[in-house]
This record gives sequence, structure tokens and C-alpha cells, in this order.
Amino acid sequence: MIKIPFNKPHLSGRELEYIRDAVESGKISGNGKYTRMCQSFFEGRYGFRKCLLTTSCTDALEMAAILSGVARGDEVIVPSYTFVSTALAFVRQGARIVFCDSCFENPNINPEEIAKLITPRTKVIVVVHYAGVACAMDAIMDLATKYGILVVEDAAQAIDSYYTGHDGVKRPLGSIGHLAAFSFHETKNVISGEGGMLVVNDERFIRRAEIIWEKGTNRAEFFRGEVNKYGWVDTGSSFLPSEIVSAFLWAQLEALDDIQSRRKAIWNSYYEKIKCLSLTGVSGLPVIPEYATNNAHMFYLMMDSIEKRTELIERMKREGILCVFHYLPLHSSKFYAAQYIGGQLCNCDRYADCLVRLPLFYELTSSDIETVVGVLSEAAK
Ligand SMILES: Cc1ncc(COP(=O)(O)O)c(C=O)c1O
Repeated sequence: MIKIPFNKPHLSGRELEYIRDAVESGKISGNGKYTRMCQSFFEGRYGFRKCLLTTSCTDALEMAAILSGVARGDEVIVPSYTFVSTALAFVRQGARIVFCDSCFENPNINPEEIAKLITPRTKVIVVVHYAGVACAMDAIMDLATKYGILVVEDAAQAIDSYYTGHDGVKRPLGSIGHLAAFSFHETKNVISGEGGMLVVNDERFIRRAEIIWEKGTNRAEFFRGEVNKYGWVDTGSSFLPSEIVSAFLWAQLEALDDIQSRRKAIWNSYYEKIKCLSLTGVSGLPVIPEYATNNAHMFYLMMDSIEKRTELIERMKREGILCVFHYLPLHSSKFYAAQYIGGQLCNCDRYADCLVRLPLFYELTSSDIETVVGVLSEAAK
């Protein structure tokens, strides 16, 4: 029997009230009051230039791929240690994916490796802020500027997290690249079941982003009274969520600070307890570089080997605790392996084999944390 699940969606308590309000208002399709309230919240709190809610982070990445203008023959540099959507969005546009290795210290893309992969055909670098911990953005943005490449931040896990650059300025993740994509899937800190958001930081893409969002039409301009009729002007799809989804998200955003402080308390409690143990088979705890903040999206351990990790996951499961591993490398995936022409990606493979995530959700109690750490210390004696 599962006593401690890996994740449990947290409700702030006002979700149904706002959904009811949306339903009773008679406007339940997209781009209504709640959609705009959520978008303005993000623009105000984080200084994102333009936000568009989407039905998933995958959708937001697909919008970013369309906006980036990549076409057949273009190359896009993507970490191999990521979720399928990070690469798939660009594959759908015909781009060739050039997979890059992770850093040694954390699963984020390694800027030194990126530099070796840039060619005249490189159009986009996609970075993933793994576990909400910032990639080395100064080095990445410097490369992008030098070679005229766009940067898309896959900020699926990175809500309310920051990066401090060499200039000493602390910037929210999602505000640094030309475009960024967030996820509100039920496993994230802030949720709407399925859900996501495109952030457009580069002014040049704003008008087209709205059109792509609204099925290739200029309907958003029509609703603002800027044109007197709307029609088909570009490519696009139905990327916007209904007001029902946005109303749910609004209830979460109101509780963002409470959610974040609870998750951080849980993360710190794990860290403080585990760092004092001498565990065999465990080779590391999460490393937060000095330029990054921790948004407590995830608590992971690095094990010595895939065998040690499997043993730990099975031992936890026998005690009713669900711990899970994460991504499988994309460069050696069934879908892409035959097209992959690069070398070995050793750090990526190590994270794929050895990383294990512990339960982390708002309702996790101190006694749950004691139980997880207790089983861990027994299992890794
Ligand atoms: C790094 C990353 N990118 C994109 C996604 C896709 O997010 P969504 O499920 O909202 O489409 C995920 C999913 O967890 C992810 O981890």
C-alpha cells in the first residue's frame, strides 16, 4: 500500500469558487477575465514582457519553435537530459536537434559543451532550468549574442526562481531568454491540471505570438478594438486554455507565496536531515550554484549506480513510499537515436541512471519526512 505518494496536487481552496465564477459569467472559452488576470500577474510580479497562457508547456514550446522561424536544415541545441517536448517542438518544425551534455555538478546544460556544438546553421539554444535551478545564463547569453542565436528557456519547473548575473542583477528565470515556456502540470509547484505559459521577452515576437496563439487569426487585436474584423493572417493553433483552467490557476497564483514557503521548508528539512547521514551508495545531494536560487520544485539524490538506485526505489516502495527516477536521455531514445551523430554524453547518462527524486508536495508532513529519511538511512547503511 502506498503511504507516501511521490506527488499530491495541492489546492489553495478557492479553485472551485473561481471556476464557478467563470462558469456563471457566461464566458468560459479562452482569453477572458481569468486568463488576463493570470497573465498580468506574471507580467507584474516578474517583469515578463508579454505572457500568454497555454494548455501546456509543450504547447508553449511549440509556439516558441514556430516563432523562432526554424526550418529544415536549421540546428537547435537542446540538452539530452530533458523531457521529450523540449526537443519535439523543434523537430516538428523540421529542425535538426544537436544534443548537448549536462554539467558535472548538476543536470543543467553545460555552456562549454554548447560552444563546441555551434555551427553557422545553429538558430536556437534551448536551456532547461532543471529542478528550478538556473542554468549558467551569462555564458549562454554571451554565446547567443556572439553568434546571433535565439535562446528559449524551458522553465517548465522554474516558477519563482532567479538567476544573478555578473552584473549583480537578480533576474527571474523566464525573463532572460528571448522566449520562455512554463508548465502548470499537476506535478509542478503551481498547477492547473494541464497548463502552461509562453513568455515573450523579445518585442519582435509579440504580435506574431498572439496570432499563433489564436489559431493564426488576429482575433486578440479585434477584441482590443484595434481592428474592426479579424481573419486568417498566419499559421497557428488553438494554444489558449479555457477560462475554467485559468480560473483554477488564478486560485493557485493567489497562494503562490504560501506554496513556495511550504515547499522550501520541506526541501530544507530533507537537506538538513540527509546531509548529516553517512550513506553508502549515495554520491550527492542537489547542488545550487551561487548564482541560482532554489524554488524547491524537486529534491533529488544522486546514487552511485543504476543498481543502487533501483535497490533504493524498491526498498522505499516496500515501505509504501514512492520515489521516482527522471528523464531517459533523448539522444539515445528510440525516436532519435538513428539520427544522432554526436559523441557520448556521459553526464546526461549518469543523471539518467543515478538520479532519484524523493516525495515533495505541500501536504507532506514532518512525520512523512522523518519516515522517508528513516527508510533512506536504513537502505543506504
Ligand atoms: C523540462 C520540461 N519541459 C517540458 C515539459 C512539458 O510540460 P507539460 O506537461 O506542461 O507540457 C516538462 C514536463 O514535465 C518538463 O519537465
